[in-house]
Amino acid sequence: MEKDLLHIARQWVLEAGHIIKEKMNEPLTIDTKSDPNDLVTSLDQETEKFFAKKIRNRYPDHKLFGEEGYGDEITSLVGIVWIIDPIDGTVNFVHQKSNFCISVGIYKDGIGEIGIIYDVMTDNLYTAERNKGAFKNGNRLKSLKKGLKMEEVILGMNHFLLCENNLVDFRKSQSLVKEIRGVRSYGSAALQLAYVAEGRLDGYLALRLSPWDIAAGMIIVNEVGGRTTNLKGNSLNLLEQDSLLTCNEDIHNELVKRYT
Ligand code: IPD
Ligand code: CA
Ligand code: CA
Repeated sequence: MEKDLLHIARQWVLEAGHIIKEKMNEPLTIDTKSDPNDLVTSLDQETEKFFAKKIRNRYPDHKLFGEEGYGDEITSLVGIVWIIDPIDGTVNFVHQKSNFCISVGIYKDGIGEIGIIYDVMTDNLYTAERNKGAFKNGNRLKSLKKGLKMEEVILGMNHFLLCENNLVDFRKSQSLVKEIRGVRSYGSAALQLAYVAEGRLDGYLALRLSPWDIAAGMIIVNEVGGRTTNLKGNSLNLLEQDSLLTCNEDIHNELVKRYT
């Protein structure tokens, strides 16, 4: 990996965040995608185009795998691939103008090298480089605490896990939420991965996420000793959608047991 890649990627993320803040109060075009709750705004698209242009100019041999389709047609993770969600938490962005982030994961031959998650409105920047630790605003994040018991756990959870007629039996989630201390739902997958890395949440579970939702966060969580798999405990393929379980290593087996 190039020596200054993290530095450059971080600069672009901050620049993109600045543009979002500047333009977010101008009239936005808001469309729906797969369903009426799956929103996309002109700023999601503009932000992805911003990264596409920067990456193509400076790193013509790198690939971009982005949510909004301005990147490359990705069928493998060979080479250097930027996996980008230009705005994660678009519903929050539209309704609340807060609790959304930019998520950038850089992978080399399928291995996560650099993860950046930027909470635009709080100005909190989470970064990690493989084997070099994870940081929040430049301060090293501690390894996740040891000896965690299920009764003291706070989990981030996507509400679909508690709904009927889903891929996973909702009763499993119902008994889990009764067992633990609390459940939170923040509306941005990437931010919830960052919260797991900083120990605000002990884990985050979701029924179905896309590679760009999790690519950066997985690298950050990994650097503090957390574990990320699907809900069955299997490793994730970043070319496909899957369920997600990211958590403190101490409770990983316990949580997998609840869903198998
Ligand atoms: C969504 C958010 C949300 C998660 C959805 C994602 P988007 O991403 O991460 O928290 O529950 O599954 O699609 O559409 O805001 O980029
Ligand atoms: Ca997303
Ligand atoms: Ca998005």
